[in-house]
Amino acid sequence: MTDRYAVVGNPVAHSRSPAIHAAFARQTGEDILYSRLLAPLDNFARTVAGFFDAGGKGVNVTLPFKGEAARLATKLSERARRAEAANTLRFDVDGIYGDNTDGPGLVRDLTVNLGAALAGRRVLLIGAGGAASGVVGALLGTGVARLVIANRTRERAEALARRHGAPVAACGLEDLGGEPFDVLINATSAGLAGAALPLPAGAVAPGAFAYDMAYGPLAEPFLAAAGLAGAARLADGLGMLVEQAAESFLVWRGIRPDSAPVLAELRAAR
Ligand code: ATR
Repeated sequence: MTDRYAVVGNPVAHSRSPAIHAAFARQTGEDILYSRLLAPLDNFARTVAGFFDAGGKGVNVTLPFKGEAARLATKLSERARRAEAANTLRFDVDGIYGDNTDGPGLVRDLTVNLGAALAGRRVLLIGAGGAASGVVGALLGTGVARLVIANRTRERAEALARRHGAPVAACGLEDLGGEPFDVLINATSAGLAGAALPLPAGAVAPGAFAYDMAYGPLAEPFLAAAGLAGAARLADGLGMLVEQAAESFLVWRGIRPDSAPVLAELRAAR
């Protein structure tokens, strides 16, 4: 029997996850069906429970439910526990297993697909919400020389940094400019509102790499600002989307698909 999976979010209509997982299923021969599931903002848990009761095997979770997903899980991976956010739920016989594949997805896209070194580099993560919290642990795991979290609301950046211990620093957006970074990652939702982030030239080291975790037009305001501030390489988060999906596929099916041809197909279809 075909195993069913879905991406749950609000909004979810534009999610590219169904196409990505369909490609993974074709490639690996796994018999799965993957759809979109719109959850009412106040009814995430019931939407997931309904899918589970109907025979669903697992879900990906996107905005704005990643925190709720972590709380819904009865067992969490270490990386999801630290992030206090889950983007992957697997329905096991003994409960709901929650994981977060955003961090490994981002790191793999940066280091493998884009060839951006992280070890020994000064890294700036902008944002302190669900998207940012999912990737701090994985960034630290690459051996960065320094990781600073900058957020509009400084207290949220400080709280996120505290959860990860001494190597992580925090500041407000208005504090940026005095210290240059080699890699700058936008994990805010400012692009959703078409808002540009203030990015002073002093924050961008010569030859810096700027990355936006969003993809397509949503990534453009930040990447344009980073380019103006002197970043030499710019990339949106389409590769991260494919890589986190490949990690989720592994959590569900025990097999990691080859992400490269799927990413190439998506880029070509743009
Ligand atoms: P997500 O799961 O996408 O991270 P979130 O938890 O609502 O969503 O967090 C949104 C992030 O984008 C936060 O870091 C937010 O800053 P605040 O903590 O100060 O709210 C940031 N953000 C959203 N709009 C922004 C804007 N116009 N300028 C700067 N930061 C913005």
